[in-house]
Amino acid sequence: MKCTRCKAKAEVHLRAHNAGFCRPCYLEYFRRQVERTIARERMIGADDHVLVAVSGGKDSLALWDVLVGLGYRTTGLYLGLGIGEYSDRSHEKVETFAAARSLPLEVRTLAEQGAGLAVPDVAAATRRAPCAACGAMKRHFFDAAAHEGRFDVLATGHNLDDEAARLLGNVLRWQRDHLARQRPVLEPSHPKFVRKVKPLYLLSEYETAVYAFMRGIDYIVEECPNAEGATQLVYKDALDRLEAASPGTKRAFVKEYVRTIRPVFDTAAARDAPGECEACGMPAFGVLCSFCSLVREVEHKRARRAAAGLDA
Ligand code: AMP
Ligand code: FES
Ligand code: ZN
Repeated sequence: MKCTRCKAKAEVHLRAHNAGFCRPCYLEYFRRQVERTIARERMIGADDHVLVAVSGGKDSLALWDVLVGLGYRTTGLYLGLGIGEYSDRSHEKVETFAAARSLPLEVRTLAEQGAGLAVPDVAAATRRAPCAACGAMKRHFFDAAAHEGRFDVLATGHNLDDEAARLLGNVLRWQRDHLARQRPVLEPSHPKFVRKVKPLYLLSEYETAVYAFMRGIDYIVEECPNAEGATQLVYKDALDRLEAASPGTKRAFVKEYVRTIRPVFDTAAARDAPGECEACGMPAFGVLCSFCSLVREVEHKRARRAAAGLDA
């Protein structure tokens, strides 16, 4: 197959686009896709300072790389989740990436934020699925870091496969509130929130993996050990089968949802503005934000165990 742009020998074939690219043209294609998405959805202004949440995986590191290449002012944010060796190795990848390019990086770890806050400990104490506890804590620390650092935008590396799987899950249960909030740009609903954007939401996992490989980005290949068996993976698998039978399905599913269907769910309730958490002052829909309720629950369980003479 020949490169669709320059007719040299193609190295990548994208069935969804019915196109092939040599290496330089692929890199150009990928950057243009991100650039166009950012412009079309008005994700990032020219003077904005962007906080890029980087997990050490291919998507977020590829995103950081592209944003720097496009000339945006960026700072990385890595959150240490305390998931054993997986967290140590992903932290290492992020540090190496930032140091090699002299990029500013902020690191926060859950263990530093309070006793028993590492993901496995919270999951055990609250009997929640690790991913549910992890998601609430990530959201809180991303928001807090963006607010405290006075950033204009928070960018994450969610890709097309992530968004399609999440959309399928929300549709299968008709979760109207979640559907209303599933968008590539979330404008702040409170002065302590910043705009949240997903510039890779129309690029597949395969496309970001090829980009990261071609750019020589060293990323953590293994998935989080808690992801095994997660429902999200079942949805991804189903979508992969649909995509194989009909290339372009995932992109159409997500793109058309955002463009034409999502506004239907944009009810007044979905636009409710939050108040402030009594404990930490961050936006919250109840008396406490979901992070502080989680922390209270952990403290409560630890105190009960201590009182019963068990290890805290
Ligand atoms: P996930 O929720 O693991 O699918 O990750 C989605 C996005 O959240 C990634 O592309 C990153 O932008 C961000 N992210 C996930 N984990 C971390 C982390 N430990 N530190 C910073 N950002 C993260
Ligand atoms: Fe959060 Fe795996 S990354 S539980
Ligand atoms: Zn709070």
